[in-house]
Amino acid sequence: MEKQKLILDCDPGHDDAVAIMMAAKNPALDLLGITVVAGNQTIEKTTINALNVTQYLNIDVPVYSGCGQPMVRERPIIAADIHGKTGLDGPNFKPLERKKCSRHAVNFIIDTVMDSDDDITIVTTGPMTNLAMAMRMQPLIIPKIKQVVFMGGSYQNGNVTPAAEFNIIADAEAAYVVFTSKRPLVMVGLDVTRQALCYPKIIERMAKNDNEAASLFSSLMEFFCKTQKEVFGWEGGPLHDPITIAYLIDPTVLKTKYVNATVDIKGVESYGRTNCDMFNYNHWEPNCNVSYELDIEKFWNIVESSIQQYS
Ligand code: RIB
Ligand code: CA
Repeated sequence: MEKQKLILDCDPGHDDAVAIMMAAKNPALDLLGITVVAGNQTIEKTTINALNVTQYLNIDVPVYSGCGQPMVRERPIIAADIHGKTGLDGPNFKPLERKKCSRHAVNFIIDTVMDSDDDITIVTTGPMTNLAMAMRMQPLIIPKIKQVVFMGGSYQNGNVTPAAEFNIIADAEAAYVVFTSKRPLVMVGLDVTRQALCYPKIIERMAKNDNEAASLFSSLMEFFCKTQKEVFGWEGGPLHDPITIAYLIDPTVLKTKYVNATVDIKGVESYGRTNCDMFNYNHWEPNCNVSYELDIEKFWNIVESSIQQYS
């Protein structure tokens, strides 16, 4: 079967790091490049984190550094309370030798999509700044993008404000550009990522695979789950980003509904909220496949088989 080509745009971030691990060696996927954006931490730190993960796991995929601030909002937000000072606190990495590519992430996205046969999926697991900037800089890429699968939003409540989820509110205008692009969208929101709680028994299960990926997963999750418990009271940290990759590996891991979904860029309390008409009550034109259910057992099996690909 033909490998699915993808670009993973991320803000590592503990859950982004697991998404990189899952995307890099799966036989069904062809990870063309990792593009990095400011989000969980500054662009300098998220870039170093992506390089550290590829070096630690010996992943031969180029890393491109991208936008260091949102398109419009004055004050960037970071998530140091969850991901720590480095943005990837927990694992001890060897001195970093890997280097980022010189090309800017936005240019890599534009060049790669323009040269493609319209068969590239863009996965975003951070603020959508790089993708939105690419769409604005070169609109010809928009019809050539096969689909966008993104971790972001929620049709229920948020995690930064009651209304908004981090990846969206961190650059709501960028999300607006993507939501109005008229390309196939798959939204992996908090509604399903909060079903992927990484309990201690999950960490123990993955650790038994006794390889580099298993040890990285354990050290990442020990930190991530501690801060998620401190901040949100979760008994297991919600493993948000890897669900996007699990969906590409096996789309039956998610149930989705094709509805109208918009991003609020004008509100105050609701700024950055994703408004999804899940009951199609208004009969507005649908534009997004919004996830509403995760097959939890299938998801953890996909994570474990991804870890085993590093043995
Ligand atoms: O709201 C969760 C999302 O924000 C995840 O992608 C996490 O890594 C942060 O980017
Ligand atoms: Ca992320």
